[in-house]
Amino acid sequence: MLTNYYFEQFKKIVYDNTGITIPDNKKYFLEIRIKEHMLELGIDSLKDYLVMLKTDKMVLKEFISKVTVNETYFYREFFHLKALAYLVQTENLGSPIRVLSIPSSTGEEPYSIAIVLKEVLGFRPFSITAVDIDINALKKAKEGLYNYRSVSKLPEAYLNKYFDIIDNNTFKIKDNIKKYVKFYEGNILDERFIKSLGKFQYIFCKNLLIYFDRPAKIKAVNNLYDILVGGGYLFLGHAESLSGISSLFEPVKINDAIVYKKPIKEEEDEFF
Ligand SMILES: C[S@@+](CC[C@H](N)C(=O)[O-])C[C@H]1O[C@@H](n2cnc3c(N)ncnc32)[C@H](O)[C@@H]1O
Repeated sequence: MLTNYYFEQFKKIVYDNTGITIPDNKKYFLEIRIKEHMLELGIDSLKDYLVMLKTDKMVLKEFISKVTVNETYFYREFFHLKALAYLVQTENLGSPIRVLSIPSSTGEEPYSIAIVLKEVLGFRPFSITAVDIDINALKKAKEGLYNYRSVSKLPEAYLNKYFDIIDNNTFKIKDNIKKYVKFYEGNILDERFIKSLGKFQYIFCKNLLIYFDRPAKIKAVNNLYDILVGGGYLFLGHAESLSGISSLFEPVKINDAIVYKKPIKEEEDEFF
C-alpha cells in the first residue's frame, strides 16, 4: 500500500515531467504500475526506487511509459479527419502541408491523417510530424503493427490498400503511408522542443488536455499557438475545449466538428 507521503512524491514526479495530474481515485492504478516496475528492476524498497527515478533518466522514461494512457485507434473521431479533408481542399495555407499529431501515442492517429491526406491530395506534398512522451508507444508506432481492434473502424478498401495483412489479427502499415510520418519523443510542455519542430498548418492535439490541470493546459495551448501558421487550425478531442484556457483562437464549426482557427495577423495578410 502506498502511503500518502509516497503517493504525493510519485504524483509530483509524474506532474513535473509530463503535466499529467493523477487524481486521488487513481492511487491503486499508480500502485500497480509502480509494483510492476520495481519487480522488473529487482528493487523492493520504495525509497530506493524514488532515488532511481530521480537519478536515472532511462528508469524515469520507463516509469512515465507505465503511467501514460495510450488508448487510441485508427479513424477515432472520424468527424475531425473529415473536417481536415474539407479544409485542405477548400483553403490554401501554403505548400507543403505540414500536420502535427501530438500526442501520437502508438501511431494510429498520424497514420489515419496520412491515409486521409493521401486520398484527397494525391501527389500534392504533405508530411506529418508525430510526437509523444512515451518511448514504448513510439517504438510500437514506428514498428507499425496493429491488431484487429485498432483497425476495425477503417474502411476495408483502405485496409487492403495501406496494410500488409499478416493474419486476421495482425496488420502492418505499408511504406506507402509510413513514409509520410516522422516520429519524435518529446513533451508538449517543453517550449524549446516544440519550437524546434517548425510551423504547421494543422495541429491535432487530441485526448491529452483531459489529463492536465489548467496551468498545464494553458502552457500546452500557448506552445501550440506559437507553431501554428496564421489561418491554421488546432483540433482537440471531443471532450476538450479552449473555454477558460485561451481566447486567442476562433472556434469554427465544420459539419460535426469544432476546430480552432488561429487568426491571420495584418502583417501576415499583406503577403497574400
Ligand atoms: C490517450 S492518448 C491520445 C492519442 C491520440 N491523440 C488519440 O486521441 O487517439 C494520450 C497520449 O498522450 C501522451 N502524453 C502524455 N503526456 C504527454 C506530454 N506531456 N507530451 C506529449 N505526450 C504526452 C501519452 O504518452 C499518450 O500516448
